[in-house]
Amino acid sequence: FSGRRNVIGMDKEGFLQPAEAVVADSDLLKKKLDALRFSGPQKLQVIADFDATLTRYWIDGCRGQTSHGLLKQGNPEYDTKRDELYKYYHPLEYSPTISIEEKTKLMEEWWGKSHSLLIEGGLTFDAIKQSVAAATIAFREGVVELFELLEEKGVPVLIFSAGLADIIEEVLRQKLHRSFKNIRIVSNRMVFDDNGCLVSFKGKTIHSLNKNEHALDMAAPLHDQLGDVDGAINDSASVRKRTNVLLLGDHIGDLGMSDGLNYDTRISVGFLNDNIENSLDSYRNAFDIVYLNDASMLGVVKLVRQLFP
Ligand code: TMP
Repeated sequence: FSGRRNVIGMDKEGFLQPAEAVVADSDLLKKKLDALRFSGPQKLQVIADFDATLTRYWIDGCRGQTSHGLLKQGNPEYDTKRDELYKYYHPLEYSPTISIEEKTKLMEEWWGKSHSLLIEGGLTFDAIKQSVAAATIAFREGVVELFELLEEKGVPVLIFSAGLADIIEEVLRQKLHRSFKNIRIVSNRMVFDDNGCLVSFKGKTIHSLNKNEHALDMAAPLHDQLGDVDGAINDSASVRKRTNVLLLGDHIGDLGMSDGLNYDTRISVGFLNDNIENSLDSYRNAFDIVYLNDASMLGVVKLVRQLFP
């Protein structure tokens, strides 16, 4: 893709490795970087998608699992039923011929059925722990460094996912081996009874096409988050004052995660994991920086280090 890249003059910055980074408008990116640098870390928030953005797309030649995909309910009949739904709806999710309105209805249907099966099939919290322990899932190289650096700089991270909050939290617990005060999760959250059985889901469902409708939830008061209540770094007032955004996603729809936030400057980073030949043009037009081929997060770490040494 060398003919279509525009990284001239940017390589010395270090976060754009020519082999894997694409920038459509390097002047605009430079202006945005200057604006973020000028305002400082106290004005920045990071909004990140989870599956295939923070986590790797490929792991030892196999597709990395998603928060939905890794879940084994301990009830094979229901695992099969959810798998059948996946086989039916996943191709529709990516179909180029279905209108957005129609697709949104289909996604509502899928998430509704899938959440009902989890309840009906008697999902327990123990099954979540065991599923995560057995899962093919790993963070991209550099994600821990990024979280540490952002924590050190007092920058909040919102993990925004149409997956399952309780599973994402368990993945963070098991794979990061430490908690971060600056991380909070906006995703579909389960309600368990006293026996640890799933009984319902909290609030309105977040599916892959309505993330933009939930953007303001991210600034809502904290509840039940993962050890992040101390300090003001993540409270709603503090997050609303952070008018610069670094957004990380793997789908163009992920750009909707910052809708409603009224940001001054947003730098968007897209991970294009698959189907590069067909999708590169739309990704490079949508995101400020596109990382190809299941790249690491180290470029983003370098970018933040250079902004705030
Ligand atoms: P996200 O990347 O926006 O977090 O989207 C979550 C993904 O989860 C989406 O691509 C579809 C997938 N999914 C499953 O694998 N199984 C399911 O049961 C459901 C409802 C979604």
